[in-house]
Amino acid sequence: MVLVTGGTGLVGAHLLLHLIENGENVRAIYRNQNNIQKTKSVFELYKKGDLFEKINWLEADILDVPSLENAFINIDYVYHCAALISFDPKDEDSLRKTNIEGTANMVNFSIAKEIKKFCFVSSIAALGDIAPHETYITEETDWNPEKPHSDYAISKYGAEMEVWRGLQEGLNVIIINPGVILGPIPKTKIFEQGSSELYQKVANGLSFYTLGNTGFIAITDVVRIAHELMKSTIKNERFTLIADNIIFRDILNTIADTLKVKKPGIHAKPLLMNFLWIADAIFSTLFFQKRSITKATAKASYSKNLYSNEKIKTALGTVFLDVHQYIKDVSKL
Ligand SMILES: NC(=O)c1ccc[n+]([C@@H]2O[C@H](COP(=O)([O-])OP(=O)(O)OC[C@H]3O[C@@H](n4cnc5c(N)ncnc54)[C@H](OP(=O)(O)O)[C@@H]3O)[C@@H](O)[C@H]2O)c1
Repeated sequence: MVLVTGGTGLVGAHLLLHLIENGENVRAIYRNQNNIQKTKSVFELYKKGDLFEKINWLEADILDVPSLENAFINIDYVYHCAALISFDPKDEDSLRKTNIEGTANMVNFSIAKEIKKFCFVSSIAALGDIAPHETYITEETDWNPEKPHSDYAISKYGAEMEVWRGLQEGLNVIIINPGVILGPIPKTKIFEQGSSELYQKVANGLSFYTLGNTGFIAITDVVRIAHELMKSTIKNERFTLIADNIIFRDILNTIADTLKVKKPGIHAKPLLMNFLWIADAIFSTLFFQKRSITKATAKASYSKNLYSNEKIKTALGTVFLDVHQYIKDVSKL
């Protein structure tokens, strides 16, 4: 049986659907019964509501060791997708706890229960920092602790260290490092953040674009490749998963065209982005609101990072979905 953490999130819900469609027996953990409804909504969106009943749900928290022990009964393979994603400086402690300590718990049980293979969903945020003579960030690029990193990136990097420790202790591991994951455009909001938030912001008339870029990938590619890697003989490697490096303006324009709304028209240069995050910090403090732009997200919006996907293409012969076409296609669901 396969254990999936984060099954009530964007990645985990799609992974559960993919695994069931491919004949796997799955167990998923949940913390809050209400959030299981999100997973059901994902299955229904793809008209696969009947397959939802095949999930063996169990209440557990990756930070609560006794509850987690039950989740590992009769498990052979583990996909660890659960994480906290936040760029709010207030979440620094929770990020470290959930992402590093939670992953350490998952790794420890996987070693103790002799799990056959463990897949960790990391992020391109945990890849290294490019040196001046390099163009592409790869799986081999060194992490430079002297360079500034978001708390989220540090927590995912720390989580990877726990997985590599598991490898030293005999666990077979696979780490995937996806770029920004684009999911479906549901009629009603299912997930609060990630691509759902991006679609929502453009639909609500986002005014600004930037000319920074990053790697993007469709959710269907992420879960398909994760499963392929787990079924293969490949182990103890990490793989960058991006379909393409895309300028933020271009992705926002594709979303705006698809949703038939106005494209963001104001070029937010680095100076303006820095002003916006400082303004956001002041207003969120005054009005006790969650930060929407932080120093880390402002910087990321104009950074020009190029990621290489050559390693996974060579390993599996992967052909990625075109991200712009994916957005147009999922809008019809
Ligand atoms: N979305 C992206 O663009 C993106 C890009 C690169 C990498 N990733 C990585 O992909 C993974 C999944 O991301 P996502 O977009 O699916 O995130 P998400 O939609 O925010 O889902 C997060 C999941 O983690 C679970 N979780 C959080 N804390 C937990 C805990 N203490 N115990 C058990 N479960 C817990 C949540 O459960 P509840 O429902 O109980 O809150 C939820 O199921 C993460 O590791 C993330 O770092 C995401």
